[in-house]
Amino acid sequence: MGQLLYATKLNLAGVNLDALPARKPQVEASLQKTDALLTEAIVETRRVSHELVPVLLKDFGFQKAIGEFCSRFQGTGIRIDCHCFPERLPLPLETALYRMAQELVNNIVRHSGATRGRLEIIRDKDIVYLEAQDNGKGIALEAQRGQKPGKGIGLSTIRDRAELLGGSVEIDSTPEKDTLVTICLPLRKGT
Ligand SMILES: Nc1ncnc2c1ncn2[C@@H]1O[C@H](COP(=O)(O)OP(=O)(O)O)[C@@H](O)[C@H]1O
Ligand SMILES: [Mg+2]
Repeated sequence: MGQLLYATKLNLAGVNLDALPARKPQVEASLQKTDALLTEAIVETRRVSHELVPVLLKDFGFQKAIGEFCSRFQGTGIRIDCHCFPERLPLPLETALYRMAQELVNNIVRHSGATRGRLEIIRDKDIVYLEAQDNGKGIALEAQRGQKPGKGIGLSTIRDRAELLGGSVEIDSTPEKDTLVTICLPLRKGT
């Protein structure tokens, strides 16, 4: 929603007032008001999403939150197995992992046509690996690169998030094999 509002704001900024000489001041005032409302909506969306998601996460931890998320798909024809180490991590990292895991599971359910999915979060010393695997049709190459016109921003947001945290994303999707997305994040001391 935040992204949509932001795109709307950018589009609004592209309105050419000179193309509307008649009643220009009224139009200009209206545009300014609309822009201010959009800014408010963006800030509010950010606040709400911040408050909503981490409730379960904050109180019960990543393992519980993501387990609960995966269990929502029971009875939908696709089973998502979920394994996660039990220790807590710094909340910003847990939140990032949770968001990325949610997007990957949503993608499996929405796009893959798989009958089974697997989500695994492993900790190996100072690195956390998040793996999402499915036995579906595979991710088209252009979609892997985020070049599919008119398509979403889920995978590219995952790449951005991982990069911001000093990590990386690898997509292994070849025909007749399971699709595997692996995200690798370093655990820095003091974070
Ligand atoms: N697990 C998957 N299996 C098959 N195709 C996928 C999978 N994950 C993503 N895709 C493809 O990649 C595209 C881009 O995914 P994403 O960036 O998350 O955007 P969105 O989910 O909003 O379409 C999807 O539209 C879909 O075609
Ligand atoms: Mg998606």
